[in-house]
Amino acid sequence: MRPFRLAPSLLSADFACLGQEVRDVIHAGADLIHFDVMDNHYVPNLTMGPMICEAIRAHASVPIDVHLMVKPVDSLAQMFAKAGADIITFHPEASEHIDRTLGLIKDAGCKAGLVFNPATSLSYLDHVMDKIDMILIMSVNPGFGGQQFIPHTFKKIAAARQLINEHTAKHGGEIWLEVDGGIKIDNIRAVAAAGADTFVAGSAIYGQADYQQVIAAMRAELAKEN
Ligand code: DX5
Ligand code: ZN
Repeated sequence: MRPFRLAPSLLSADFACLGQEVRDVIHAGADLIHFDVMDNHYVPNLTMGPMICEAIRAHASVPIDVHLMVKPVDSLAQMFAKAGADIITFHPEASEHIDRTLGLIKDAGCKAGLVFNPATSLSYLDHVMDKIDMILIMSVNPGFGGQQFIPHTFKKIAAARQLINEHTAKHGGEIWLEVDGGIKIDNIRAVAAAGADTFVAGSAIYGQADYQQVIAAMRAELAKEN
């Protein structure tokens, strides 16, 4: 059985009651809380900073998966580590020194990962596979929730899966493969079939009244893949 993890994105939650939204989605079966950080510079939107991460920490009994869509990366990555993030991912082209940024995140006690936009090459992974805990493949262009899944990312997910399998077969360790953007009940199984093990879903979960029902339906789809 492959382990599958569901990571609801707070981006589509009710920002007026984030603590409750975090508790509710965990109660409904979330494995991670996906926390989207946008700076209105790297992406054309502005969301949540480290103070909000710190505030929801007490409500989150599962790991907080911080997705940094910011430039520069290093100072904010360190602030999020202090604010209680468990996993911190960033876009390699937003960092001047990718190896250093990964090191800063790991030294702060967090898991670290790289995020790839639909048109960003996986070649950034070539020299850092031994330093990462997660690869995050964007299946939309980052900046907004509720966008359509871009189908050509299936190929990229499969390519990332192959890189992970080759690396872990040789060197051991564990690298998660997360996919973010446009994931719904009706395509999650195909995303898993392409090789993903961790699934971000914002509008698909927070856009419905019954979170538990959506999460159960997603798990039922994933069970068909196992
Ligand atoms: C987009 C964010 C996503 C977003 C996904 O830039 O990184 O995490 O919340 O939202 P949905 O699932 O609605 O596409
Ligand atoms: Zn995200």
